Amino acid sequence: MTKIIKTVSEFLIIRESSNYVNDSVGFVPTMGALHAGHMALIKKSKEENDITVVSIFVNPTQFNDKSDLENYPITLTEDLQKLNEADVDFLFLPNYNELYADNYKYSVTENELSKKLCGAFRPGHFDGVLTVVLKLLNIVRANFAYFGEKDYQQYLLIKGMAESFFVNTEIVSVPTVRDKDGLALSSRNVRLSKENRVKATLFPQLLNHSVVPEKIRAMLEEDGFKVDYIEIIEDRIFGAVYLEGVRLIDNVKI
Ligand code: PAJ
Repeated sequence: MTKIIKTVSEFLIIRESSNYVNDSVGFVPTMGALHAGHMALIKKSKEENDITVVSIFVNPTQFNDKSDLENYPITLTEDLQKLNEADVDFLFLPNYNELYADNYKYSVTENELSKKLCGAFRPGHFDGVLTVVLKLLNIVRANFAYFGEKDYQQYLLIKGMAESFFVNTEIVSVPTVRDKDGLALSSRNVRLSKENRVKATLFPQLLNHSVVPEKIRAMLEEDGFKVDYIEIIEDRIFGAVYLEGVRLIDNVKI
């Protein structure tokens, strides 16, 4: 049975208990509404560590759009069932006050990559992500923490932060898990209508089949997508689009 821990102090007591000092700990931070993408991270952590800790915390500081936060799916009962089935050892389930006793007076900022791609369209988003992830890494003190390539920019920023601040946890990436039709799994996909869920597959298809961002943008806009960006950085093509107000992001190695 997955043990639920809601406070930092309770977590620290367990983390420091002699039962776990010699175990390797894997950590998977999430915002819940768990799907097969999250479960792939958990599976990898289970394979590579003695103990796996998952956190669920819908982090308000990373939502620049209030309605996105308000509409973020919460499915705790189903999530717990999945964690139990996957034999996850601990679920860390803190509330806002537990993590933000300072009420976000202190934050972490990166000044280059975090200003590009999603950062250019979601002001403050990566400050919120980096701040909460640094807090979580400092609490959990895992040997390895697992992040999905679906959010590749997030993964790079967290890896860079961990190195810059000498965090003693190795940041590991896990390939994007997709539905059969190619759409990257996301907690937000459930908010798409049936019709737009079908249409959404055009987005990964175009990222996979063209390396001309302007062409991809034009084709998506023609089909009713609102495009934030389609952009190549180094060996990857990144995109962010909206369909009926639902934001979808993806990236593919060229
Ligand atoms: P969340 O969107 O819940 O995602 C948690 C982790 O699951 C992230 O590392 C994300 O990249 C990964 N993930 C999501 N969909 C995936 C997919 N289809 N394939 C592979 N991995 C996938 O990302 C966050 O939460 C938050 O920003 C967080 C890091 C928890 C900080 O609040």
